[in-house]
Amino acid sequence: MDDVVGKTATGSSSITIRKTGVFLGAEFTGVDLTQELDANTQEAILQAHAEHGVLAFPDQVISGDDLMRFGRYFGELTVHPFSSSTDECPELIIYDNKEGNPPAATDVWHTDETFRECPPMGTALCSKIVPEYGGNTNFASMTAIYDGLSDRLQQFLSGLEAVHDLGPFKGLFPDTPEGRKDNYLAQEKYPPVTHPVIRVHSVTSKKILFVNPQFTRTIKGMEEEESTAILNMLYAKTLRHEYHYRHQWQPNMLVFWDNQTVQHSALHDYYPQRRMMERVTINKGERPAGDAPAADPATLRKYLMPPIMDFTDSRQKRQHDK
Ligand SMILES: [Fe+2]
Repeated sequence: MDDVVGKTATGSSSITIRKTGVFLGAEFTGVDLTQELDANTQEAILQAHAEHGVLAFPDQVISGDDLMRFGRYFGELTVHPFSSSTDECPELIIYDNKEGNPPAATDVWHTDETFRECPPMGTALCSKIVPEYGGNTNFASMTAIYDGLSDRLQQFLSGLEAVHDLGPFKGLFPDTPEGRKDNYLAQEKYPPVTHPVIRVHSVTSKKILFVNPQFTRTIKGMEEEESTAILNMLYAKTLRHEYHYRHQWQPNMLVFWDNQTVQHSALHDYYPQRRMMERVTINKGERPAGDAPAADPATLRKYLMPPIMDFTDSRQKRQHDK
């Protein structure tokens, strides 16, 4: 099967896009990221990013400046409040995990930085040193997972909103008077925010399940036990292998993923081998758009459940049922 889904000539370069997964993932070749990209190439990357969710650019020996220039084509670079970077270049995160410095907090399914009112549109991560084996990154298409829900569940989730907060980062502070003060100040700076449970992609207009176990705390308007049960059920959907693309890194590979449509989880199995990566996170200052106006409690109270037999044809369908 020919997996090439696009070939484009954009001035000085000839781009090839080859799918690497069923629901997400593509390899993007024909560009040199040490050089400035023209507007057509930037647009081709943006469209492919939205369409395939995860774009891999192999064999890119790039500097931190090249990585930051790449990110700035698509928005502003964020400064992460808790990740490691240098004072001279706070936008550039450096992960250098090796014996004595194990990786932390990235092996949970999540979408980057949904604790922000405007979460980032994408993350670009470039591998510098990769372990001999292990250290893959797993991605899940939250668009495909939404499409796989039953019509009845999609209808139920439409218009709901969820509260996101700093999640595990709250546990990074030492249990000392100063640590507790810093924790309080961090939560003052990043108070809980509300996002739609189902968001609409700003480029493709596709619907996306937008809750993640790292930062989503509760669904608004529900009892805690109801919210917890529904969120856990939705998180379990994220675990289905058919919706995944597992990325195997090579040195000098840039991966640019779409934080609107994918969740990811990094495998920490390689430790204590060394794995060194550089990252920028790109924000366009957009609040996630919901698939429907936020649910009105008064309307919900009037909602009547149709007879269950009306939904015989709209039960949950897996990929092989369709
Ligand atoms: Fe992440």
